[in-house]
Amino acid sequence: MNTGQKREIIKVEDIKRDYVVGEEVVHALRGVSFTIYEGEFVTIMGTSGSGKSTLLNVIGCLDTPTAGEYYLDGISVRKMGKNERATLRNRKIGFIFQSYNLLAKTTAVENVELPLMYNPTISAKERHSRAIKALTDVGLGDRLNHKSNQMSGGQQQRVAIARALVNEPVIILADEATGNLDTRTSFEILTLMQKLHQEEHRTIIFVTHNPELAHFSSRNIVISDGRIKSDTYNDEIKLAREVLETLPKEEA
Ligand SMILES: Nc1ncnc2c1ncn2[C@@H]1O[C@H](COP(=O)(O)OP(=O)(O)OP(=O)(O)O)[C@@H](O)[C@H]1O
Ligand SMILES: [Mg+2]
Repeated sequence: MNTGQKREIIKVEDIKRDYVVGEEVVHALRGVSFTIYEGEFVTIMGTSGSGKSTLLNVIGCLDTPTAGEYYLDGISVRKMGKNERATLRNRKIGFIFQSYNLLAKTTAVENVELPLMYNPTISAKERHSRAIKALTDVGLGDRLNHKSNQMSGGQQQRVAIARALVNEPVIILADEATGNLDTRTSFEILTLMQKLHQEEHRTIIFVTHNPELAHFSSRNIVISDGRIKSDTYNDEIKLAREVLETLPKEEA
C-alpha cells in the first residue's frame, strides 16, 4: 500500500503500559508500534484483557504510557504538560464509548454542545448551530430536544457520535461502540462509521471483540497479551449498508 503521501495522524513507538497492583505488575502493553495515516478506518481486536482499551486510552490521551513515544498529528504527547494534553484531547480527538457516557436528563443538543464549551473561540450561537448540524448528520434531526433517558440505545450512541464529531477532530476513537446494541442497530452504527470514513475521509480507530467486523474496516490490528499479533490491510471492504438491508426490521 502506498501511504507515502499521507499525513501521519497517530505514530506509536514501542509503547509499554505497566499497572502496579499491590505486589504485582500487570504488563498491559508490552511494546506496541504502528503508524496510522489520515483516512484509515482501523479495527483493533483481541480477547478480553489483551490491552485494547489500554491502548485506546493512551492514543486518546486519557492515560500516559510507562514507556515509549507517541506522536499525535505530528506532536510529541510525552513532552506535554497535563493542561496542554487536555486541550489537545479536546480539539483533536472524538471519543465514543460502549456506555455512551451522555449526561442524563440533558437534551441531545446540550450533550453535543458540550465539547465546544471548552473552546472560547466558538460563540454560543455557533455552538448551537454546529450541534444541530452534527445531530442531523447522524440522522437525529427529529430528536434534538429529547433527553438521554428518552432515547433508545442506538439513538443515544448516535448522539455520542455527533458529540465526537462536533469539534471536527482529526481522529475518532471508539471502544466497543456497538457492544451494548443489537445486531441491526450495530450495523446502523457501522454504516454510519463507514459513511464517515468513505465520504468524509475521517480517520477512525474502532476497538471491538467481534472478529466479523474486520471485513468492514480498511485495516485490522490484532493484539494479544499486550503485543501486536497481526496488522493487515483489507482490499475488499464489505458494506455495512448491504448487510443492514438483509436484516429484519424487528428482532424476534
Ligand atoms: N487500571 C488498571 N489497573 C490495573 N490493571 C489494569 C487496569 N486497567 C487494565 N488493567 C489490566 O491490563 C490488562 C489489559 O486491560 P484492557 O482493559 O486494556 O483489556 P481489553 O483488551 O480492553 O479487554 P476487554 O475486551 O475486556 O475490554 C488486563 O489484564 C487488565 O486486568
Ligand atoms: Mg476494553
